[in-house]
Amino acid sequence: MENELIDRYGRKLDYLRLSVTDRCNFRCYYCMPEEGMDFVQRKALLTYEELDYLTGIFVKLGVTKIRITGGEPFVRKGIMDFFTKLRQHQDLREITLTSNGSISEDQIQQLKHLGIKKINISLDALDKQRFFEITRRDKFDEVFHCILTLLKQGFYVKLNCVVDGNKNIADIIPFVQLTADYPLAVRFLEEMPFNGTGKFEIPEWNHLALYDYIASHFPEIQKIQDGKNSTSVNYQIPGYQGTFGIIPAFSRTFCGTCNRIRLSATGELRTCLYGPPVTNLRDILRAGANKESIMTEIRNAVVKKEKDGFKAEELNSKTPKKSMSFLGG
Ligand code: GTP
Ligand code: 5AD
Ligand code: SF4
Repeated sequence: MENELIDRYGRKLDYLRLSVTDRCNFRCYYCMPEEGMDFVQRKALLTYEELDYLTGIFVKLGVTKIRITGGEPFVRKGIMDFFTKLRQHQDLREITLTSNGSISEDQIQQLKHLGIKKINISLDALDKQRFFEITRRDKFDEVFHCILTLLKQGFYVKLNCVVDGNKNIADIIPFVQLTADYPLAVRFLEEMPFNGTGKFEIPEWNHLALYDYIASHFPEIQKIQDGKNSTSVNYQIPGYQGTFGIIPAFSRTFCGTCNRIRLSATGELRTCLYGPPVTNLRDILRAGANKESIMTEIRNAVVKKEKDGFKAEELNSKTPKKSMSFLGG
C-alpha cells in the first residue's frame, strides 16, 4: 500500500517517537553521566517547522500515533506552540508524550485544552533520597505534584520505573501499592545499555525476576489484557484502582509486534532503538529534497528494519552506545 509503512516481516509501523531535544534538566544515571554531556548545537536540531513538516510526511505514510520525547521535551522553548501545531494533522489519532515530570500547572492546563489525554512520566523512586541518587536532582516533590495534578485533571498517566538491583528495589512494592489508591499504570523497566558512558552490566533484575519478586509479595496478582502493540506485560492486584506492568526492554521479547519508528532531534531515523540510524532526514530535507523523495527514503529505511533488537544491535556493535536522551527513548 502506498500510504502504509510495512516492513519485510509484515509489521505495520504506525507509531512515531519524535524527539524534540537531547537536553534534559535531570541526570538519571541510566541515561547520561553526571557531568560532561556534549549536547548538540542548536542549529543541528530540527526546527519546529521541520519537525512539523516531517510529521506531516509520516502521517501521509500511515502514522496515526506520535509520542514526543527528549531528553526532556519541556526544556525546549516553544514546545506548547509545537503541540498546538501537531493538533492540526487531522489523521493523527493520538498525540502523547513522555516527560520526567517537569510540566508546569499552566502547561498541564494547555495540554488538556489541546485534547492530549495520555502522558507517561519517568519516576524511579518514591523515596526522596533514592530519587535524588537516581536523577542527581532534588526534584521529587515537584515531580510527584505534577503526577497528582495530571491525575486530578483527568489524564491517563503511566509511570516508567527503571529497575536497578543497587538502587531502587525497595521502591518496587511501594509502587505496586501506589496503584491501590491511584488509577495509574506503573511500568517496571529493565535497564538498557544507553547511559552514555559505554559501561553496562546485563540487568539481574530482568522481567522474570521482577515478576517473581512482585508475585511473592502479592500472591493475588492477576494478568490483565495487553494492548496489541504493548511493550509491557500487564497485571493488576484485585480491588486496586491502577495496574502495573513489566517492560522487557533489555530482553526484547516484544519485537514481533513492534510498530515503532524513531526520529531523533537531529533528524536521525531509526527503525529500532538498538540499531544505528538508517538515514538522516534533516540532511536530506536541508539539501532540498522534495516530499516524494523523503517518502521514498523513509520507505526504504522501513523495508530494512531488522527482525528484532538483537539483530539491530549487531549492526551497531562497533559504535559506542549513545545516551538515551539522544536516542529519544
Ligand atoms: P505507550 O505508548 O504508553 O505504550 O508507551 P511506550 O512504552 O511506547 O513509551 P514510553 O516512552 O513510556 O517508553 C517506555 C519504555 O519502553 C522506555 O524505556 C522505552 O525506551 C521502552 N521502549 C519503547 N519502545 C521500545 C522498543 O521498541 N524497544 C525497546 N527495547 N524498548 C522500548
Ligand atoms: N534503560 C531503560 N529505560 C530507560 N529510559 C531512559 N534511559 C533508559 C535506559 N537506559 C526510560 C526513561 C523514560 C523512557 C522514555 O525511557 O525512564 O521513561
Ligand atoms: Fe532526563 Fe529522561 Fe534522561 Fe532522566 S532519562 S536524564 S529525565 S532524558
